[in-house]
Amino acid sequence: MDNAKTKLLITGVSGLLGNNLAYYFKDKYEILGLYNSHPVNINGIRTGKCDITSKGSIERVIHEFNPSIILHCASITDVEQCDRDKDIAEKINVLSAAYLTEIIMGQDIKLVYISTDAVYDGVRGDSSESDKVNPLNFYGRSKYEGELEIAKKENALIFRTNIFGWNIQNKKSLGEWVLDELQSNRRINGFKDACLSSIYTLEFARIIDIAIRKDLSGVYNCGSADSCSKYEFAIMIADCFGFDKALVSPVSIDDFDFQAERGKKLDLNINKLQKRLDYRLPAVDQSIEAFYRDYKCGLPSEIKRNISTVQDQSAIIPYGKQWIDENDIQEVISLMRSALITQGPKVGEFEDALAECCGAKYAVAVNSGTSALHIACLAAEVKEGDEVITSPITFVASANCAVYCGAKPVFADIDLKTYNVAVDEIRNKINTETRAVIPVHFAGQSCDMESIRDVVMDKEKEFGNKIFIIEDASHALGSFYKDKYVGSCVFSDMTVMSFHPVKHITTGEGGAVLTNNEILYKKLKRFRSHGITNIPGEFIYNDLAFQSSVIGGQHLMNPWYYEQLDLGYNYRITDIQCALGVSQLKKLRGFCKRRSEIADVYNEAFRGIESIQIPFESEDCSSNFHLYVLLVDFNRIGVERAHLMIELKKCGIQTQVHYIPVYTQPFYRKTFGTSWGDCPNAEEYYQKCVTIPLYPTMSDSDVERVISEVTNIARSRKGRYSLT
Ligand SMILES: Cc1ncc(COP(=O)(O)O)c(C=O)c1O
Repeated sequence: MDNAKTKLLITGVSGLLGNNLAYYFKDKYEILGLYNSHPVNINGIRTGKCDITSKGSIERVIHEFNPSIILHCASITDVEQCDRDKDIAEKINVLSAAYLTEIIMGQDIKLVYISTDAVYDGVRGDSSESDKVNPLNFYGRSKYEGELEIAKKENALIFRTNIFGWNIQNKKSLGEWVLDELQSNRRINGFKDACLSSIYTLEFARIIDIAIRKDLSGVYNCGSADSCSKYEFAIMIADCFGFDKALVSPVSIDDFDFQAERGKKLDLNINKLQKRLDYRLPAVDQSIEAFYRDYKCGLPSEIKRNISTVQDQSAIIPYGKQWIDENDIQEVISLMRSALITQGPKVGEFEDALAECCGAKYAVAVNSGTSALHIACLAAEVKEGDEVITSPITFVASANCAVYCGAKPVFADIDLKTYNVAVDEIRNKINTETRAVIPVHFAGQSCDMESIRDVVMDKEKEFGNKIFIIEDASHALGSFYKDKYVGSCVFSDMTVMSFHPVKHITTGEGGAVLTNNEILYKKLKRFRSHGITNIPGEFIYNDLAFQSSVIGGQHLMNPWYYEQLDLGYNYRITDIQCALGVSQLKKLRGFCKRRSEIADVYNEAFRGIESIQIPFESEDCSSNFHLYVLLVDFNRIGVERAHLMIELKKCGIQTQVHYIPVYTQPFYRKTFGTSWGDCPNAEEYYQKCVTIPLYPTMSDSDVERVISEVTNIARSRKGRYSLT
């Protein structure tokens, strides 16, 4: 064989074995390594994304690359995850094997499949290939079914194994986990009654190398030549690396309540392989020594240097993002060809469509949600000396709008169930200075607007003042409250929307104020554009506005004339943006439906986890799930929020914190004397909240990926990194 030309295809190249094999074989073969959700770069070899559960995708890769050898390493190996997500385990562990076999059937391609010791039940121990397989969990079952598929290919080679080694990802193999814990002087438990013949990945790579050279085929156990318990394994690592063995405590596997059943004596009889290869496999301690030697030679960092995880933008799952399709693009393009790209008819068309969609009489579109809040406060005549009540758990804009008008923002604490401002808190904080209340429909869940309206009306009667209610519905376009669309203004004077790209519909940047009150509507329109009017009925100086002569029984208006009645701003939105808005609005219901489907899947996945609180859904409200916020008891799971977010980011999953209580911001502290402790519920919420990705273009597999990574970390170090 001319090795220089031999092409080797490795599936699962981002996993422990896949990347170690790529590292081992990189000078020997021309390699293409496939990953799916964890992109990697490996110096000197090609890597590429391929969904191996799609037959067409694998077929294309094989056709183009034309490999002589395929090492099929891609697999879901987390035993608990396989039991939880059987569909995914079935697809990756079985279906991909079936596709590979079918595609290369009859071709001169060597197919090597990496199976597991978990195909045995571990009752008797010392299992050999002729023993009956009897997997106890779905992982073992799916890998065995994978073997059956692979075995259909003539000359295929199957290894049943258990490995440890140096990972490039943040996942840790057994050896790495033990080392990490001992290095940090942490106590660990080791199962004294779980036996295995784990082999070091680079030893295993050598054996695969020899087996390929000798053109071995059939099923072989491949592990260390002897076996040990997981407890003994940890002790050996401690010994070899010079750590305190007393940190390792022997425990029984029976004392742990795993969902997936596990075999106890999973040690492998490797006689068949030794004989066929005429090669002595290393004992466990020799494997650990090789692991140690490589460590001393700096191999872990060399692997990481040569092989790095990369953030493939297409593989990154942000916490929120827009959905722009071809129709949207065409609408914008055709608007660009029209005569007016701003202050034209599209703005009115968008406003009418928005008002209709929300069930309000009027809408005034502006260039951001922040501008919308500002002009709403101006229309409510919020001014110096006034107070404006809002929630501390919101974007700063909900409070800044009051400050723009010279008023003092007052923060009413939230309800820990809904995360929205608590009605009693509003009642307690309203006084004779209160000019407006701005309830924020956080994450899409409407506030209890009827109660808020009742409280405000009572106080208006008590104080004899008008108190405006301005709903900040920047998160809630498409949500319902008491069978009415949020934005209908049935319980408020005005409602504000934002069309930033992470929101339900987007205009790039943009916002709007909805109202049923014509006077407010007219004011809003003026404040949007410098306080200027050109509506004849609004002029102060009719003598200047109109011609003195009468033509056809009328005084004609001077064509140039306008008046500035108030101090307004240039908060105008363009027709280009509104063309996008009109097109997006048509799809709002579909967007909300998909958001709600994803929220259902998340709810199902996270509901049973004690350290996690899923979002509350009131019977009065149907949320559009603008955000999906989990409340995680980080103390309980022993993982810090920053750690969770950083680990998720490494897996390409972006999370966010919504929000830091607004009054704790330096500006508010120095200007209004607010401080930590002002709103205890908001602060408790803030300690625990984390927003995970939710947007309508998320695929089912994106959703599964988020669930799997979040639960792995949230199930605590116990769940993920124990000696299982
Ligand atoms: C609750 C809330 N209010 C107001 C705004 C301001 O909207 P915009 O970014 O469109 O100015 C946002 C934006 O994120 C928000 O989340």
